[in-house]
Amino acid sequence: MIPVILSGGSGTRLWPLSRTQYPKQFLPLNSDLTMLQETVARLGDVSDVSIICNEEHRFLVAEQMRQIKQACSIFLEPVGRNTAPAIALAALDAISKGNGGECLLVLSSDHVIDQAEVFTKAVAQAEPLAKAGYLVTFGTVPTKPETGYGYIKAASTPLAGAECDAYAVADFVEKPDADTAQQYVDAGDYYWNSGMFMFTADRFIEELGKHRPDILSACQKAMATVTPDLDFIRVDKAAFEACPDESIDYAVMEKTDKAAVIPLDAGWSDVGSWSALWEIKPKDEQGNVLQGDVIAESTRNSMVVGGERLVTTLGVDDLIIVDTKDAIMVAHKDKVQDVKKLVAAVKAQG
Ligand code: GDD
Ligand code: MG
Repeated sequence: MIPVILSGGSGTRLWPLSRTQYPKQFLPLNSDLTMLQETVARLGDVSDVSIICNEEHRFLVAEQMRQIKQACSIFLEPVGRNTAPAIALAALDAISKGNGGECLLVLSSDHVIDQAEVFTKAVAQAEPLAKAGYLVTFGTVPTKPETGYGYIKAASTPLAGAECDAYAVADFVEKPDADTAQQYVDAGDYYWNSGMFMFTADRFIEELGKHRPDILSACQKAMATVTPDLDFIRVDKAAFEACPDESIDYAVMEKTDKAAVIPLDAGWSDVGSWSALWEIKPKDEQGNVLQGDVIAESTRNSMVVGGERLVTTLGVDDLIIVDTKDAIMVAHKDKVQDVKKLVAAVKAQG
């Protein structure tokens, strides 16, 4: 099995801590390890991991892997083209080395999983299904009509021959609108796509070629003239820039008829917002998460992240307050899905 870690996201939803130069996967949000390091550590002993990231983050990735003594191959994208091309690079590399039949375990670099052992078991269960030609997803039971996720409808009967709880995917819908998401939650037979996948390199490339030959051919060109640079694998700039921008979810998972889902109940969170981070963090008796130099009086259900100076709060509820060197954010906890609007406004200001 080859772990493939997607580390090219910009993580704007956790601004102002997460920045373009330093997105959330490189931050220690949930432990002493960064999200990327946690993703790797969760795998236990693995001889090599493939990490796909933007070239501007190459030294960050290399340094974070050196800190945890993990050997890795780092693929550098000159521009972000989303997850379908990123995964295609790793799959084409495996095929070029004669490992097309190997399973790729595709992971996001910015998720929290409380119960690593449950995750490990699901991964072991996925391997025979992937070897049998399935594109395996890991599904989490939805708790709200979140529109930022993919929804997976599982077939009513378990997959024949599978030695675990696994189902054929009857329908995969990426990021539905709010009404549709609510219908899926009410229906009770949909899972959230956790954004982790397992398939062989050969099968992924086969399905990508079938549904998005334009993406495949751009990635083949980008990998045809790879420039080795220290430990980095630098793909051809012009060819990769010409690649369409698309996620695996739209490019392949919505279209393939050979997907399977393994239910995963492992305390998964994609930490997609400040409120999600508040939810998973240990809280004091007032429901607060206080980090850094913070004094909070008569403050409830809030998250306050101090920076280089003292932050004080008095008589406030349900706020997220984040102080950094050059920006302070004060937001209502119910509004943090819109942090990207702030980021856009900051960028527009220059
Ligand atoms: N290398 C690389 N290049 N990585 C990327 C790129 C890129 O251009 N774009 C995103 N990534 C990485 C992110 O860093 C993250 O680890 C992962 O790929 C997923 O990308 P997101 O941008 O976070 O996707 P999403 O959260 O909107 O949606 C996906 O995850 C959801 C669960 O968290 C989808 O798979 C949904 O279906 C799923 O529900
Ligand atoms: Mg995400």
